[in-house]
Amino acid sequence: MVITMEAVVSLRVVKPNLHRTNRTYRTVPLASVTSAAPVSADPGSLGHRTRPDFPILHQELNGKRLVYLDNAATSQKPTHVLNALRNYYEAYNSNVHRGIHYLSAKATDEYELARAKVANFLNAGDCREIVFTRNATEAINLVAYTWGLANLKQGDEVVLTVAEHHSAIVPWQFVSQKTGAVLRFVDLTEDEVPDVDKLREMLSRRTKLLVLHHVSNVLASVLPIDQVVSWAHDVGAKVLVDACQSVPHMVVDVRSLDADFLVASSHKMCGPTGIGFLYGKSDLLSSMPPFLGGGEMISDVYLDHSTYAEPPSRFEAGTPAIGEAIGLGAAIDYLSGIGMQTIHDYEVELAGYLYDSLHSVPNVRIYGPAPSKSNYRAALCSFNVEDVHPTDIATFLDQQHSIAIRSGHHCAQPLHRYLGVNASARASLHFYNTKEDVDDFIRALTDTIDFFASFK
Ligand SMILES: Cc1ncc(COP(=O)(O)O)c(C=O)c1O
Repeated sequence: MVITMEAVVSLRVVKPNLHRTNRTYRTVPLASVTSAAPVSADPGSLGHRTRPDFPILHQELNGKRLVYLDNAATSQKPTHVLNALRNYYEAYNSNVHRGIHYLSAKATDEYELARAKVANFLNAGDCREIVFTRNATEAINLVAYTWGLANLKQGDEVVLTVAEHHSAIVPWQFVSQKTGAVLRFVDLTEDEVPDVDKLREMLSRRTKLLVLHHVSNVLASVLPIDQVVSWAHDVGAKVLVDACQSVPHMVVDVRSLDADFLVASSHKMCGPTGIGFLYGKSDLLSSMPPFLGGGEMISDVYLDHSTYAEPPSRFEAGTPAIGEAIGLGAAIDYLSGIGMQTIHDYEVELAGYLYDSLHSVPNVRIYGPAPSKSNYRAALCSFNVEDVHPTDIATFLDQQHSIAIRSGHHCAQPLHRYLGVNASARASLHFYNTKEDVDDFIRALTDTIDFFASFK
């Protein structure tokens, strides 16, 4: 079965550095240039149908079928993405925006098309609102060092939650140390979700920025971003959304969220490592000073000063991750070929199955809200088992059962401290997982718990 993208969306693709490439804006009817990504025709669940597209999943470790449940850390890559990367290096590897020859023109077109695909995927109004970065971490740092340093001053407030990833906390600590802006953290409700009522009470005219995750990489909870954005805008604050755990799993529409900035990483959405993106509203990006200096980001360079290119080039100094951007474009084709709503619906089912199965194992404590109609949980569970260290659990699962989960603080030490633990184990799913994967995990976890109990 081949699923084709139906939405025909015309996006204005801007060629940055027009003076050098001598090309003008052109309109790309996106569906006419987007190749439909093949999805396997096997019957069964979405997981069964898409598994064949992921070569890495078809291997045995120590004689056992590999079960990959570490998708919140990074996702696996379908053949469609691997082929796009290979094709770039085999057929048109060249630098972008600089050359007049065929290879460079083709690489530039594909690189800019990848930007258009990201813009379309997020329903951004304009390709120029998408800046390619190395990952989500770099995208947040970009906003911190440009918008943050230019706009925050002594006494201003930045509101975050205790559940943010380190990538969303540490850059703002740097900015706070340099500007005197105060970081204020919202804690959790009894249900272990960030307390949005307290967040609302915290907002005032002093609040200049909210930095919030969309979906928690530990609690699996989902924040009502559109609602929070409207409260923030009422007091004149901007909102930066860390969408690392939502963009790969559900429809994320930046215009309906009305977020000012939004970041995500390609490697969590079936694309290559080394590339992520920042979405920023046009007027904000245009008002921001550059991040890194160098080639590509300038308009004119003199010995004593330079003038800068318009966004997004202003924020893309040096040779970008060309193949990786093209690979990300292919990942977006692949995800769009399945449909983000289809992915989300299937993951809701998997999420409930994972939670209920894990909940039935004695002595297991799962963090975050119990699933309910009002409390959607993402398809991941961070948990601890009484008297067994999470790293022992992850090691035993890996070595005895070839099941890959994660243990540690998941780059959320403040949250773990808040929960009263140093670390947790985490099983996280993606649409190519199946209920059989969950069953294997639960069986193996029970065996692991029995093994450690035998030493008591
Ligand atoms: C919620 C969240 N934010 C930010 C990040 C950082 O992403 P990256 O390491 O790709 O920059 C991650 C990665 O684990 C994450 O889960």
